[in-house]
Amino acid sequence: MSGIWTEKYRPKELSEIQGQDEIISKVKYFLENKNMPHLMFTGPAGTGKSSLSLVIVKKLYNEAWRDNYLELNASDERGIDVVRQKVKDFARTKSISEKFKIIFLDEADALTRDAQQALRRTMENFTKTCRFILSCNYSSKIIDPIQSRCVVFRFKKLNFEAAEKIIKNIAEKEGLSMDEKAINALYTASEGDCRRMINILQACSSTKEITDEKIYSISKSAHPAEIKSILTLAISGNFLASRERLLDLMLKQSLSGMDLVKAIQKEIPNLDIEERIKLKLIEKCGDIEFHLVEGSDEFIQLESFLASFSLAGTKAK
Ligand SMILES: Nc1ncnc2c1ncn2[C@@H]1O[C@H](COP(=O)(O)OP(=O)(O)OP(=O)(O)O)[C@@H](O)[C@H]1O
Ligand SMILES: [Mg+2]
Repeated sequence: MSGIWTEKYRPKELSEIQGQDEIISKVKYFLENKNMPHLMFTGPAGTGKSSLSLVIVKKLYNEAWRDNYLELNASDERGIDVVRQKVKDFARTKSISEKFKIIFLDEADALTRDAQQALRRTMENFTKTCRFILSCNYSSKIIDPIQSRCVVFRFKKLNFEAAEKIIKNIAEKEGLSMDEKAINALYTASEGDCRRMINILQACSSTKEITDEKIYSISKSAHPAEIKSILTLAISGNFLASRERLLDLMLKQSLSGMDLVKAIQKEIPNLDIEERIKLKLIEKCGDIEFHLVEGSDEFIQLESFLASFSLAGTKAK
């Protein structure tokens, strides 16, 4: 069996794709009728877009799926001309046994507007013999004439219930022991990205006992309780102590400034302070993140962030 769990546990049936129920019920209808329009799959990474596309072709064509399926990536630097040539070659021969072939174009939002116009014409030219499935993270980057030619499916980040089913299934098959705390930690660390979730789980699986501590350290996310206590220290006016603990956390777990800003941002709503101050701090979070992206010194930025918490705390008193 393949070594990488995201492949090993890639859904083979529609019923194994979790958390996208509306989309699945529509796809079921297409499969029953052995027909479908052009599709556009849009949504965050690791939510099942490529997986669903594979399930569709395998269900439509069974063993012959490889002859009827072309997978391309639009962000290949060779550009739209190569895409068009490949589509032409593939589409020229009509499928022997089937009404149409399927072309899956990943990262369609990487194409420039001009390239998308060219793609639109290609889609039109081969509509008789081919159906396109375009996949992208941001539908707003796809030009309207393409969107209007497709049925658009919006994939959602996995909710906890869906994630839990996937985690429990893998844990059972791999003989891992995981308590609720560990499952929660894994879900939090992966932010609804199933690929990331399964990768973290596999990275933790050198021993069969999976704890939340292990997940936080492997996923490079700080333990929420630890972050909360650091922030609470700062708010209560203990600026120096909080600064020390933050530095310690950064070094011990080798977290980057950005990892920490994200972790802090997640904890702000849980702090015991006025709503108005929370909003101010969340706003500040945006500033800090921006400075970090621009390449500012991580520790100075975080220190100034902690200072805002301390100031907010003194004002509140
Ligand atoms: N909805 C889901 N249900 C079950 N497993 C999923 C789901 N989404 C993703 N996975 C798991 O995560 C892996 C990656 O998913 P997939 O390749 O389908 O993501 P994607 O949406 O195409 O992401 P990207 O935008 O990065 O291409 C799959 O192999 C599968 O194991
Ligand atoms: Mg994909």
